Amino acid sequence: MTDPNTNTAKTTEPTAADPAAPADPAAPAFAVRDLWKVFGPKADRIPGDPAHQALSTAELREKTGCTAAVRDVSFDVRRGEVFVVMGLSGSGKSTLVRTLTRLIEPTSGSIAMDGEDVLGMDKNRLRELRRRQTAMVFQHFGLLPHRSVLDNVAYGLEIQGVGKAERRAKAQEIVEKVGLAGMEERRPTQLSGGQQQRVGLARALAVDPEVLLFDEPFSALDPLIRRDMQEEVIRLHREEGRTMVFITHDLSEALRLGDRIMLMRDGAIVQLGTPEEIVANPADEYVRDFVRDVPREQVISVRRAMRPADAAESGSGKELAPDTLVVDAIEAVASSGEPCRVVEDGRTLGIVDHERLLAVVAGIDGTLADTEAVTV
Ligand SMILES: Nc1ncnc2c1ncn2[C@@H]1O[C@H](COP(=O)(O)OP(=O)(O)O)[C@@H](O)[C@H]1O
Ligand SMILES: [Mg+2]
Repeated sequence: MTDPNTNTAKTTEPTAADPAAPADPAAPAFAVRDLWKVFGPKADRIPGDPAHQALSTAELREKTGCTAAVRDVSFDVRRGEVFVVMGLSGSGKSTLVRTLTRLIEPTSGSIAMDGEDVLGMDKNRLRELRRRQTAMVFQHFGLLPHRSVLDNVAYGLEIQGVGKAERRAKAQEIVEKVGLAGMEERRPTQLSGGQQQRVGLARALAVDPEVLLFDEPFSALDPLIRRDMQEEVIRLHREEGRTMVFITHDLSEALRLGDRIMLMRDGAIVQLGTPEEIVANPADEYVRDFVRDVPREQVISVRRAMRPADAAESGSGKELAPDTLVVDAIEAVASSGEPCRVVEDGRTLGIVDHERLLAVVAGIDGTLADTEAVTV
């Protein structure tokens, strides 16, 4: 994966105080701590008050008229990852992502981007943050109807003050990257929904932001087109390694795209983990319900499915890497006709056989959470 920080094809002259350069390259892209966003009268009193904190979102609304859209949330977005925020409608996802760049002011807590305190930024610094370091892709595209595709894509560069020739050249490059070549002079109304969202994506990419923020960008698209767009995001991420915060209410989308998924409910975090951790190890009944119908073999790896090897087994059998998915291991075991070894750095960590693998498929691998790697 490329380092997003070296991938800075600048459209303007870099200066000593390059605003797009991370303040602290070792810090996470975003570090969010104890974040609250409360809407309503005298919202400030809510986060610091234990009596209010103890109330559910519904009770709080009833007692105070306030809505706690984000409740005491802490997490890091690591550089280069696709960080998915998932939850049902009303769980606080949009509010959360907007607080990251202070499009919505948080009620309390802290946010750092690359180690720099976002809440301490002045107007000018915030503008840089929103125009250069981050870019958003929205559900309803937000395209300018009277502009061509090319000029829509160039828009972010235009407000940065990039000259016309330069921004059109850059826009052209991005238009091709997202598969819109030949449509440069069309208006948004002459495009399908999927194509319009490609324009939205291209516009965000054109400013070469450090972090892309997506707020349910594909929710309005037909399932097949949606799938195409997901593939597009995966491809872009693979090629560029750019940090992405991706909001969705769709579990299969979350599982497909996320390096890690943060599951929200009523403004709070229910679980944060890799797709595999969440499917294999749901934090509570709520998450369990959510993931009940997930094809487990497509998410769970052999690291979780394996059993310890006995001495006789550690030298023979086909080798699989620990992150091999169960669905692929089933093929490997079937084709080799014997159990496979899970091997990392030359060490046999364990064994997967038909029984173990089918237990994952059937969802009867109840002890998986306890199956720690055993080295022999
Ligand atoms: N400007 C606002 N004023 C009052 N309540 C709001 C406002 N924005 C959002 N909310 C409430 O905050 C909660 C979370 O909303 P939102 O962040 O839009 O959720 P999601 O994006 O997950 O659907 C909802 O109950 C919503 O009604
Ligand atoms: Mg939303």
